[in-house]
Amino acid sequence: SGPATGSPTGAPTGLPQEAVAQQGEWLTTAQGDRMHDTDHSLKAGPRGPVLLQDHHLREKIMHFDHERVPERVVHARGAAAHGVFTAYGTASGVTKAAFLAKDAATPVFVRFSTVLGSRGSADTVRDTRGFATKFYTEEGVFDLVGNNIPVFFIQDAIKFPDVIHAGKPHPDREIPQAQSAHDTFWDFVGLHTEATHHTLWNMSDRGIPRSYRMMEGFGVHTFRLQNAAGETTLVKFHWKPKLGVHSLVWEEAQLAAGADPDFHRRDLADAIEAGAFPEWELGIQTFPDTPEQTFEGIDLLDPTKIVPEELAPVQPIGRLVLNRNPSNYFAETEQVAFHVGHLVPGIDVTDDPLLQGRLFSYLDTQLTRLGGPNFGQLPINRTHAPVNDMLRDGMHQTAVHQGVAPYRPNSLDGGCPFQAGAAQGADIEVPVPLPASRKVREAPESFDDHYSQARLFWRSMTPVEQEHIIGAYSFELGKCYEQAVKERALLTLAHIDERLCSEVATALGLPAPAPDAGSDDGLVSPALSQLGQEWPTE
Ligand code: HEM
Repeated sequence: SGPATGSPTGAPTGLPQEAVAQQGEWLTTAQGDRMHDTDHSLKAGPRGPVLLQDHHLREKIMHFDHERVPERVVHARGAAAHGVFTAYGTASGVTKAAFLAKDAATPVFVRFSTVLGSRGSADTVRDTRGFATKFYTEEGVFDLVGNNIPVFFIQDAIKFPDVIHAGKPHPDREIPQAQSAHDTFWDFVGLHTEATHHTLWNMSDRGIPRSYRMMEGFGVHTFRLQNAAGETTLVKFHWKPKLGVHSLVWEEAQLAAGADPDFHRRDLADAIEAGAFPEWELGIQTFPDTPEQTFEGIDLLDPTKIVPEELAPVQPIGRLVLNRNPSNYFAETEQVAFHVGHLVPGIDVTDDPLLQGRLFSYLDTQLTRLGGPNFGQLPINRTHAPVNDMLRDGMHQTAVHQGVAPYRPNSLDGGCPFQAGAAQGADIEVPVPLPASRKVREAPESFDDHYSQARLFWRSMTPVEQEHIIGAYSFELGKCYEQAVKERALLTLAHIDERLCSEVATALGLPAPAPDAGSDDGLVSPALSQLGQEWPTE
């Protein structure tokens, strides 16, 4: 079946015909049995009790009772749009991915989100923003699941539940919806000082974007590309908005949260409806794929580090245009399921321990959120490439599989249809050598530098931007109740910059830590040892 031309309301849906509900002229039950009244229950007389035999009543209320699915455990609030990605062909030297070949045009679906608030929270809170793109390529789905901040709070996915527990509202009072204005968040980032760099970006104007249309996007991790000759290159992905990067000021963000909590969602939908299609350029920073996986001394497997663009310029490889709003929020924006493991030939993951944990997490959470293992069949998640797998049955199965032998090799269903083209498959991982190793629970020494790039970021800010950062720390920390948490946050600031630390201390009415508190390039916050909570070393 081809794409539907329109919904009953005349709006284009872009969905396959079989996915379009509301067909025909009659009101019906879910079974298609015709109804002439949906406003009155079946009763024993006009004023009598309701009869259990009223199937329509029971079906209607039963369905309503189950309309909600769990919201995403993170990134619950989002807004999305359809569009097209057109490649320049400039990446063809480093990757064989077909959708990056010159002039290839690929349909995409992009979902923007806040991280910590629930589905009904305000758009303009201070938070990181998600920037997730699903490319429906001819070789299968490729998802680039990124954020608007190029670094992350933690270096190992095993800490993800912890940082999110700290960032989500307090378990006792369930406040606040805004990300950082509370004790557990600052307690976490004060004690896990690898979070310093991401936190500083959050406290900068990047934490309160003016519009989704004016945000950069970052793949954060380093990925590995492979070209047709089998050569590999390490890369970081960047989205650059055509409208430039713009932020709100804090007063605007607060007013907008009250006057129009849907500020970003409305801005995106209105712009597309008006024909002012948002655009981004996709770019890559490239690095030689050396056994060390470092570049200019920066560990490319450490997701708390950027590679400055002065050292590795971002090279444009294609253009994204968002040109169509979803027609049904639930079917598209809510049911879309991104996954960092959705890769196409020519793009592979690296050993970044944060990325490795994500490879497990998305599929796992979607099993619960989308009710079983067949959510790949939902219209928004369906690949545009032919599917021929050996997955069968399960909750919400809608495919009707043919044949009797879902295994291979087999001699009953025409042999092994999966052989053709296998040499090009996405399952042919790039054959990089693995390091000779032993089982350990430890991080490499290069992950111990928690402050140098935070300092770099602070020093790159203009005086006005620095004032905004001081204001943000003062506001957010001012909401904390625990003095020790605030003091520890000041100690972290002392490692970034003396003036930043002293001005925030003044705003909080606390003494600034001694000037030499930050001079030690101490790899772990001294506060940890004060607490006596250091991990025992062997
Ligand atoms: C959702 C980005 C780290 C678990 C998301 C979304 C984005 C995102 C953009 C929203 C997707 C959507 O719009 O549906 C990132 C980035 C990370 C990161 C850039 C680090 C660089 C992690 C880690 C984990 C994780 C380390 C777990 C170990 C999740 C989960 C969801 C999610 C469970 C909800 C997915 C769903 O319900 O469909 N992430 N994330 N993320 N992320 Fe991450």
